[in-house]
Amino acid sequence: MPISQVPIDSEPVCYPIPDDGPAGQLLAAMGRHPFRPAHIHFMISAPGYRTLITHMFFEGDEFLESDAVFGVKPSLVVRPELQGGTGTVEYNFGLARELNPGSNRPPSFVAANNKRSPG
Ligand SMILES: [Fe+2]
Repeated sequence: MPISQVPIDSEPVCYPIPDDGPAGQLLAAMGRHPFRPAHIHFMISAPGYRTLITHMFFEGDEFLESDAVFGVKPSLVVRPELQGGTGTVEYNFGLARELNPGSNRPPSFVAANNKRSPG
């Protein structure tokens, strides 16, 4: 697989999901807040592989343990390191081979083989 570098020109921040409807009522009933930890979404595709849709979270975010939509997995939490004054993350995304090209299988949602996984 080719290695790609994706420049991120702004710092991701946490945000609340819409909580003025049924989702907000459900969260309130459970005593939960509506916030998601800061994250970056990825959709990665390559010929012969299933499309991967995932996201990456950042170590130290106050909402990692209480994401309103339960999307945080330890393998998706990264710690950027400063390189030349820029926060940098190296992450290995694992794509599953498409066994039936042209099928309408849904995208894969699990990133595998993250060598920096803390857990
Ligand atoms: Fe998001």
